This record gives sequence, C-alpha cells and structure tokens, in this order.
Amino acid sequence: MDRIRIVGGQRLTGTIPISGAKNATLPLMIAGLLTEDTLILENVPRLADVIQLQRILGNHGVDILIAGKRPGVDPKNGRTIHISAKHIVDTTAPYELVSKMRASFWVVAPLVARMGEAKVSMPGGCAIGTRPVDLLIMALTRLGADIEIEAGYVMARAPKGLRGAEIVFPKVTVGGTHTAMMAASLARGTTVIENAAREPEIADVADCLNKMGANITGAGSARIVIEGVAKLNGARHAVLPDRIETGTYAMAVAMAGGDVLLQNARPELLQSALDVLAGAGLRVTPTNEGIRVTRNGSGLAPVEVTTAPFPGFPTDLQAQLMALMTRAGGTSRITETIFENRFMHVQELARLGANIHLDGQTATIEGVARLKGAPVMATDLRASVSLVIAALAAEGETTVNRVYHLDRGFERLEEKLSACGAAIERISG
Ligand code: EPU
Repeated sequence: MDRIRIVGGQRLTGTIPISGAKNATLPLMIAGLLTEDTLILENVPRLADVIQLQRILGNHGVDILIAGKRPGVDPKNGRTIHISAKHIVDTTAPYELVSKMRASFWVVAPLVARMGEAKVSMPGGCAIGTRPVDLLIMALTRLGADIEIEAGYVMARAPKGLRGAEIVFPKVTVGGTHTAMMAASLARGTTVIENAAREPEIADVADCLNKMGANITGAGSARIVIEGVAKLNGARHAVLPDRIETGTYAMAVAMAGGDVLLQNARPELLQSALDVLAGAGLRVTPTNEGIRVTRNGSGLAPVEVTTAPFPGFPTDLQAQLMALMTRAGGTSRITETIFENRFMHVQELARLGANIHLDGQTATIEGVARLKGAPVMATDLRASVSLVIAALAAEGETTVNRVYHLDRGFERLEEKLSACGAAIERISG
C-alpha cells in the first residue's frame, strides 16, 4: 500500500487548483440513473470514490464514458464523463459493492422511482459511526414505496410509481435529502421536504435535476418543493468546487504559513469555516480567481467550534481544524455533533506530540510549541488529511500510512502541496 512521506517546516507559496466536489459528484452520477438519456458531468475529480461508483453503476448496466485526452485539454482540470443509463439491466446493488462506499446506497431512490423496484444492500456501519439509513427509508415510504428488509438488503417496490408527499425529516440528513429529492422528481404530484439539508451539494444536484427537466424549488433552504414529472432527459452540468478541499488547504496554509491562491474556490460555500480561520489568524481574501489565504509569522489563536449542518462549521473539516489547533497559543474546544465516533485522529495526532483530551463529544486541545514527525495511520478520509496538516508543521519526517483513504477524497494531494513548496512525496508499495 502506498504511503505519504512529509518533512515538516516548509512554507506554502503558490496556487492550488480546487477540484470538483466529491460529495456533489457522487449524487450527480447517481442521478444519471433517472434518465434514459445521457447526463454529461464536467469538472469531475479523479478520486477512488468516483471509480468505485463507476463500478457500482456499471453493475446496473450504466455506460460511462470518460472523455479522452484532447489537444488543449489540461490533464490537471477535472474530467468530463458521460453517463448513459439507457438500459438498466439489474436493479440490485450487492453487498460487495455497497459496503465499500456508503453513498452508493443512494441508488435505491432513482432505481425505485424509474424502474419500480430496487434491492440494495444496507451499507452497515463505518469508521465514523453507525450511520443508519432509517430516514432514507422513511422518505421512500412516504413517497409510496413498499419497503421490506431481508437478509441485509432493503427491497423497495413501487410498481405503479411513486406519489408526492410531505416528508418531514426529524434530523437534518444530506443523504436523506438527496434521495428524497431524486425519488420525488419522478413521483406523481407534489412533494414538500421539510427540515431539508441546506448543504451546497444539495443545491448543485437540484440545479442539475432541473436541467434534466425536474421541477425543484427551494433547494439550499430547509424547505424544498418538487413537482414530479413523468420523465427526465439528459443534460450537461459542471460540478461545483469542493468546499472541504478548499477548507483543508486553507488550514494547511494556516499551519505551515505562506501565501496561496485557492483557485476556483468560492467563499460562500464555506463562510463559517473561513470565519473560524480568520479568527485563528489566517488572512482570507476573496479574489476573482478564488480565495487567497496568507499567514505570515504570527502565531495561531485558539478557537471554540461546534460542528453543525450547513451553514454551520462542517463535520468534514473537524479533524483538520483539530490538527491546526494543536499548535495554537492556548486552549481550543471542538465539539462534534454530527457523527458520534469521529475522533480517530485524536490518538494519531497524539503520536505527533499533540495534547488533546476527549470528553464525550468534545475535544479540548492544549496548543503545544512543537510537533515531532512519526509514522501515523488513519481509518477515514478526513482523519487522514488532518495528519498531513499536522505533519506540515512537525519537526522531521512523518509517514502517513494507508494512503487509500486520502485517494478517496483528495485529488493529487501530494502534487498540489509539493507544487507550493511542501516536502511531500508518495512512496509506492
Ligand atoms: N442519520 C440517521 N438516519 C439516516 C441518515 C442519517 O440517523 O437515515 C444521521 C447520521 O448517522 C448522522 C446524521 O444523521 O448522525 C447526518 O448524516 P447525513 O445523512 O447528513 O450524512 P451522509 O449523507 O451519510 C454526507 C457526506 C458526509 C458528511 C455528511 C454530513 C456524502 C457522500 N457524504 O453523509 O461526508 O460528513 O453528509 O455533512 O455526501 C466525507 O466526505 O468524508 C463524509 C463523511
């Protein structure tokens, strides 16, 4: 398995291009199942999760064509993929595939909406918590699907089609909102989703669905209204920039010091995180090309942060912020409210010399004067990248093992950082 080796202490200077958002790309690809026509997605990041979802969609009979290299096309830009679900040959998503990536469970919605049936393996727990799917099932039941759970599979049936309904989520859920929105697009009548997730990726998927002929209003707010249509068509859509990648590199600069343009980044996608970073001492300047982040010399101030659904501070940046605060001048507190077990990075950060105390869902971080490099490993994507951030400021060499997790969600991480002066390299094997 590949490893990443980092020698800390280098400032970061230059430009980091921000890729298309993983968490928009995955539901957008799944939305391709809703139509017989071709859905063309631009700015698709090169990520292991995208490849895994290609496999899963391929199993349903979806043809995916990735635009080849053409003269003048910068290989560093996101790719364009053509998704054609003309003939769905199989409405089952097996355990072997779904267990590798949780979001693939979401195929249940377009399959039952378009084909009248779906059999999808329950995704099971994962490293960051139990992550049940009860609210996704509730939404499909409200839309008229008949649900049975048997031998670890969710069987959803709606032979006469789905019908619009009111869906009130008792808890904000991104996956629940995506699945309700996709399924309701092809239901008869009007669906109202209350307490919908407001994440920018929801609005991006709604934009794409509307280009495909859906009639969705209010996406990005807590109340989404969907007038069902009989059929959806093909469309062309560019994936929005990745706000978590943006926040991660902003924190890398805050940690290492330097001056970096986060190209294509959009500040409104992560305002709460940028406010926290500005409070910690990072200079954040929106420009025509993206966001410029600078930190010169001065130390980092500690912060108090609680994760929350959008527009709050994202859980997907919690680990990275904790890494940053290990070097702050004082005591920080970070409370995780979305996932019950998203603290695997704490022990690994401690190996680098961090001083973190966990009490339930709150971590108290006492800033230390220095971190020291060590071999580390993490079992989820955001935890892994938090170790990279810590390593940028650690004395000596850090090796991050199980790079597979980073490849799931960060495109060319080591290239982007080394282009800005970081001493970082991938070691194969
Ligand atoms: N929940 C339930 N029942 C459900 C669904 C969710 O109790 O049926 C709970 C979850 O256990 C969690 C909370 O509701 O406590 C929120 O979960 P949500 O459904 O919003 O999360 P998700 O859709 O599974 C997406 C992202 C995650 C991100 C969360 C929260 C994608 C592919 N995944 O997950 O991203 O952390 O929203 O913003 O969009 C990541 O990229 O590293 C990642 C984990």
